[in-house]
Amino acid sequence: MPQIFTASADTRLRVAVFLLGTGVVGALLFGGGYVNSAYVTRVGWTRHQPVPFSHKHHVGDDGIDCRYCHDKVEVSSEAGLPSTHTCMTCHSQLYTGAPVLAPVRQSFSTGEPIRWNRVAKVPDYVFFNHAIHISRGVPCVTCHGRVDQMALTFRAQPFQMQWCLDCHRNPEPHLRPPEMVTRMDWSDWDPDAHKDFGRLAVKAYGIDPKRLDACTVCHR
Ligand code: HEC
Ligand code: HEC
Ligand code: HEC
Ligand code: HEC
Ligand code: HEC
Repeated sequence: MPQIFTASADTRLRVAVFLLGTGVVGALLFGGGYVNSAYVTRVGWTRHQPVPFSHKHHVGDDGIDCRYCHDKVEVSSEAGLPSTHTCMTCHSQLYTGAPVLAPVRQSFSTGEPIRWNRVAKVPDYVFFNHAIHISRGVPCVTCHGRVDQMALTFRAQPFQMQWCLDCHRNPEPHLRPPEMVTRMDWSDWDPDAHKDFGRLAVKAYGIDPKRLDACTVCHR
């Protein structure tokens, strides 16, 4: 039988059909709002945790600073999760027999770290760095929400590319003095003074929104 299509034409056809197919499915998902839905972005979802740790109690009520537990956040790409030892600085004296803290005591005696289920994560192909943001005065609350009101931790922002880009293209309104980054209630402060600070900070730090837009900033 004579060959009507060459082998490469066949491949091209398959690719074309595949792209058409994914295009249609993609359009349906976009059109239906699926791509931006909470189902995909996980905004607002809590996860089951081995210990029901409450930021509301520890930060909101007891006033413990973020950096007491996430002690690498100013100097490293990762904020890091606290070691069991950090919990025990207080819980070797406080709530020592509480059943809810049994996994903490067990972790302390066995040396086996507590396995927290992550809620705030970007895919591996995205480069993120806490120290850079903190040193420029980008506050925790902008990216993680009112953690001090969370009984169980959930993701407050979508962590999608567009969300990162929106700020990288116009960081001014989000900046504050670096020593204020862990304060959760800045949004209640005078918005006019706030705006002025951002404008001056962008100048002082030499932040260039055009450069922050480049793909290689986040995909290396
Ligand atoms: C600086 C002291 C301190 C550290 C560190 C600390 N806690 Fe607590 N924890 C408290 C206090 C105070 C309470 C009582 C909170 C309240 O009711 O306001 C508490 C209460 C709790 C409770 C009881 C339920 C609740 O939320 O009231 C759990 C569970 C708990 N802590 C888990 C942890 C874990 C896990 C760690 C380590 C990641 C940790 N704590 C680190 C001070 C601390
Ligand atoms: C007493 C210790 C403690 C303090 C203080 C604390 N955290 Fe946490 N944080 C934890 C623990 C334990 C977890 C892991 C369990 C969880 O997700 O709730 C955690 C998880 C998180 C997560 C989710 C990480 C992920 O990917 O799952 C974020 C975001 C976070 N903390 C932000 C903050 C911010 C912002 C502050 C200050 C306003 C703060 N934390 C203060 C102990 C603490
Ligand atoms: C510009 C946005 C932004 C700011 C500001 C920010 N974070 Fe994050 N945070 C993220 C992103 C994105 C991740 C997920 C990182 C990943 O998956 O590698 C994350 C992850 C975390 C985690 C999980 C552990 C880790 O290091 O991946 C903790 C805890 C956390 N942040 C705490 C904080 C605290 C505390 C502050 C303020 C001192 C803060 N973050 C400021 C965006 C931010
Ligand atoms: C609310 C504002 C804000 C958000 C949201 C934000 N960033 Fe940034 N980002 C900044 C600022 C400000 C800088 C510092 C720029 C400078 O110093 O030149 C920065 C710097 C960076 C840098 C270092 C750039 C360099 O090479 O100097 C990386 C990487 C980065 N951001 C990744 C991300 C990612 C990934 C996300 C989303 C998950 C994100 N950022 C969300 C404000 C933000
Ligand atoms: C400020 C940080 C940032 C910059 C700059 C950036 N990206 Fe992304 N990109 C992300 C994040 C975060 C994700 C993960 C999105 C998610 O998980 O939904 C992503 C995801 C992607 C994906 C995966 C598919 C998707 O859309 O989810 C592609 C492809 C991509 N980026 C290409 C690019 C290209 C091309 C550029 C330059 C024009 C670029 N990115 C610039 C942060 C960035």
